[in-house]
Amino acid sequence: MRFRKAVQWSHSIIREVLGPGDVAVDATAGNGHDTLFLCRLTGPDGHVHGIDIQEQAIEATRRRLTDNGVTPWSFSLTCGSHSNLSDLIPGSHRPKVRAIMFNFGYLPGGDHDLTTREETSVAAVSQAMDLLAPGGRMTLTFYTGHPGGPEEAAAVRRLLEQSDPSIWVVLEYRFINLPNNPPYVVALERSAGCD
Ligand SMILES: C[S@@+](CC[C@H](N)C(=O)[O-])C[C@H]1O[C@@H](n2cnc3c(N)ncnc32)[C@H](O)[C@@H]1O
Repeated sequence: MRFRKAVQWSHSIIREVLGPGDVAVDATAGNGHDTLFLCRLTGPDGHVHGIDIQEQAIEATRRRLTDNGVTPWSFSLTCGSHSNLSDLIPGSHRPKVRAIMFNFGYLPGGDHDLTTREETSVAAVSQAMDLLAPGGRMTLTFYTGHPGGPEEAAAVRRLLEQSDPSIWVVLEYRFINLPNNPPYVVALERSAGCD
């Protein structure tokens, strides 16, 4: 694969740890591209939770999953804020959450003023870190070209800089030769406890 887009990095990072029967979370479902990607990996015996604050995004995601033949009981879509993430994942699924994706910013084709925000993003990533199973991975894709984007990215970074290195590996993937604030990915891996 040629890594032309940040989303390709995030998918390749997740693909290595997520498989049939696992549980995954798309914390910013948007138009459902990442939710579909996750559903294809977890399969009919797994489960993907898609969350978005906009009903329009939830409907677009539902349409994409249905149009692509994803088994209806293998996903749940919630219209709400990912800052309530810990309340949205049922107890039986918690130990199996092997992947969580955040794709910050605004809904492509939607209202550009409805973006993810610093406070809710920090709260959500913090809860996601509690949720992720040992050996699991999380990707955070940041867009810093819109108002509030740099502040949001900096706030989440401050949170991650405080994470315990004996538990978390945190990496940043950036294009360094592209103009105009290209998106970048931060990946987290939770130690499986035996390395
Ligand atoms: C860049 S888009 C996500 C794109 C998506 N991953 C895809 O594959 O199409 C960002 C999404 O975050 C959503 N969002 C903004 N604030 C949110 C919040 N507090 N909780 C959940 N979703 C939120 C927006 O509505 C928007 O759809």
